[in-house]
Amino acid sequence: MTDKILCVAGASGLVGSNIVKEALEKGYQVHGTMRDATDESKTKYLMALPGASERLTLYSANAENSESFDKPLNKADAVFIACFPPIYSAQDGTPAKELDRERGYDEIIRPVKQGCLNVLNAANRQGVKQVVLCSSTSSTNPPEPVEVKTEQNAVSDPEQQMADNKYTSAEKIVMENAAGEFCQTHGMRLCVMLPTMMTGPVVMPQHLEGESHARFVELLNGKNTHHDKVPAGSISMSHIGDVAKLFIAAYESKNAQGRYFAVYDSWPWQAIYAELAKHVPTEALPKPLEGDPETPTRFDFARRNSLGITMRDIPTTLEETLNWLKTNPFDKVFEK
Ligand SMILES: NC(=O)c1ccc[n+]([C@@H]2O[C@H](COP(=O)([O-])OP(=O)(O)OC[C@H]3O[C@@H](n4cnc5c(N)ncnc54)[C@H](OP(=O)(O)O)[C@@H]3O)[C@@H](O)[C@H]2O)c1
Repeated sequence: MTDKILCVAGASGLVGSNIVKEALEKGYQVHGTMRDATDESKTKYLMALPGASERLTLYSANAENSESFDKPLNKADAVFIACFPPIYSAQDGTPAKELDRERGYDEIIRPVKQGCLNVLNAANRQGVKQVVLCSSTSSTNPPEPVEVKTEQNAVSDPEQQMADNKYTSAEKIVMENAAGEFCQTHGMRLCVMLPTMMTGPVVMPQHLEGESHARFVELLNGKNTHHDKVPAGSISMSHIGDVAKLFIAAYESKNAQGRYFAVYDSWPWQAIYAELAKHVPTEALPKPLEGDPETPTRFDFARRNSLGITMRDIPTTLEETLNWLKTNPFDKVFEK
């Protein structure tokens, strides 16, 4: 047990709720934020986590309003920022990729950049010097492919991404750059975590509706609206429990700084589906790939491994996730 307070911005989210869970398991006091901390459809699951009734306090805070983060950040030793899910469309519903550059910047990128700076400004006002920011592998796609990705060479070019109308991807690298500059100016230690699709048991039923879990739910019900045929490309993933451990390790490793992959090795979809075939009904499997799969993305995990967390692998995380889903958690997996 420790009297250190960790603030988790986005505590009701897939990533945030698992950071809360891990922080409570490690004995920390936790201040969690969400936009409406009176929303019992979310709070009841957070408050049911082991240790929550004694050590978790929930606050309403909106990234559009910096001051709303002052209270949850008061006396905190660190802030974990996981409150910027990707924005896929403009306020009038126009898909992000159909926007011109001005609207793409103003309506997709700027809210995330400004929102992150609002949280960081509050942290600075409250004297919080340690920041762990959740970004995404969408910030790790340099214009020219690299043979082996490292956190230093796999950096997206925001101008290029905006030129390609990839505003939803560009928001992440723009956010990382703004956070980096802010933390440097204000003497704050910043770690940036780079997850991709996340698997594993979730804290609340709402998270089963997120893209990755919804896919598994669909497969277990014998459907597959994503792939008619096995794609030639590859994919990475990680168990949300491993990701949460990496976040806490980045905070606890006092020399840790900068970007960290929070993923496993990338696997061809062909191999992923061979693994999934052990767990889901045959009718959910797509038609086989004709020809050979593309070479999967390769990563150098030296920095990730330096955080000292033993990561699962893809077969293990798939097996654990599907076995857990087969227990029909929250009574939400199998169609009645
Ligand atoms: N999910 C994935 O598979 C995945 C993959 C790669 C990277 N990531 C990254 O992980 C991070 C977190 O994503 P997630 O999947 O955990 O998202 P999520 O489940 O949608 O959770 C988002 C959290 O942020 C809060 N939030 C949303 N808008 C806010 C605002 N304006 N002000 C303050 N809080 C706000 C939400 O709270 P309320 O809605 O309750 O207010 C919730 O707690 C993002 O950076 C995302 O890009 C996620």
